[in-house]
Amino acid sequence: MTGATGLQPAAGVVTAFSPAEARAMETALKAALNGPRGANPLVGAVVIGPDGRHLVTGYHRGAGTAHAEADAIAQAAAVGLDLTGCTMMVTLEPCDHVGRTGPCTEAIIAAGITDVVYAVDDPHDPAAGGAATLRAAGVRVRSGLGADEALDLNRQWFEAVAARRPFVTLHIAQTLDARIAAEDGTSQWISSPESLADNHAIRSRIDAILVGTQTVLVDNPRLTARTPSGEPAASQPVRAVMGLRDVPADAAILGDDGLAVHLPTRDPREALSMLYASGTRHVMVEGGSRILSSFLAAGLVDELIVYLAPTLLGSGTPALNGLGITSLPDAQLWEWDASDGGAVQTLGRDLRLHLRPQRRVALDPKPAGPQSSDPQLPNPQPSRGPADQAQGGY
Ligand SMILES: NC(=O)c1ccc[n+]([C@@H]2O[C@H](COP(=O)([O-])OP(=O)(O)OC[C@H]3O[C@@H](n4cnc5c(N)ncnc54)[C@H](OP(=O)(O)O)[C@@H]3O)[C@@H](O)[C@H]2O)c1
Repeated sequence: MTGATGLQPAAGVVTAFSPAEARAMETALKAALNGPRGANPLVGAVVIGPDGRHLVTGYHRGAGTAHAEADAIAQAAAVGLDLTGCTMMVTLEPCDHVGRTGPCTEAIIAAGITDVVYAVDDPHDPAAGGAATLRAAGVRVRSGLGADEALDLNRQWFEAVAARRPFVTLHIAQTLDARIAAEDGTSQWISSPESLADNHAIRSRIDAILVGTQTVLVDNPRLTARTPSGEPAASQPVRAVMGLRDVPADAAILGDDGLAVHLPTRDPREALSMLYASGTRHVMVEGGSRILSSFLAAGLVDELIVYLAPTLLGSGTPALNGLGITSLPDAQLWEWDASDGGAVQTLGRDLRLHLRPQRRVALDPKPAGPQSSDPQLPNPQPSRGPADQAQGGY
């Protein structure tokens, strides 16, 4: 029984959770949405006192920053709050490894927290095992509360981890009529300075950025991450060019820092395998239209960011050049993503639209076996609408 909220334990979980724990898990799930998507999952954590009182909320701000548990504990420490004997609610199993940050299990034990409730297991091999470590240290550990919501929160991340491929963000900077370059090839700059700054901020926290050979030949972009004043950002992504043609020796993308890589393939899966093998866990695909289309058509996009400029061109390069869809029922369905600043933001004169693939719609009301609509299973690719939509009239 979970009491006051709509949260339920996962099927088969018999552990009891108090109404205060259910409310706190709901808060943790909402807090997780403050973070950015990418190499790491969205995670939220809430600590409640023995009386069920809410004490502190933390969330993860992306790869390389404190995990949600450590964030909550640090906030408590900053105001002199003693968490001894308290319960931590967290949307993902606490990690047990030393990555770019210390293990959360260690921080939880050191803080004197005696109860941990987490929603779903961490599927990520090096991080898994947190629950066992906590139990071995005498912490009471329960799981499964809010599991459906926690799986849905990060369903694309779970899929990327399971597929052993990078998380893919697709970026489109387009006009109102979905053009990414004018007829004469000019494309700099369709977006507002604020949108460009946002794009560069993302570049500085991803592992790799990818464009097609044609974009390199036409635009000759540097693709580095730069601050609004034009200085190089502290962290730079690998700059990947995808396509069979050679990259000219004087192409700006090559730079002199050894971070450029040529991926001699037209297969997006192969490109992702190559990047994954060399350590990339989050790639942003920047274009042009044939590259964008190939990733979308292959169902390999986890997050879509569209910078929409209130500008019309009427002709020029379309953002997409075909996804193999000829009929409306086969359209790719996307949903607005409330994480990381929300689904729609105003950036100067532009709108920034933030989306993720819609959960696949179950067509068979009585499925015979596991379905992709099962909340336990990650959604493999953007869903297609039910076939009967094609029959409807106006
Ligand atoms: N507004 C923006 O944000 C933005 C961003 C980037 C680009 N752009 C614009 O986009 C335009 C370029 O777009 P584009 O579509 O012509 O070129 P593109 O997508 O940049 O590159 C296409 C080339 O990539 C290679 N390639 C690799 N995988 C492929 C695949 N799966 N399918 C097709 N080709 C693949 C092919 O060259 P190989 O023969 O070498 O294999 C192909 O000719 C430029 O005008 C540029 O200004 C705009």
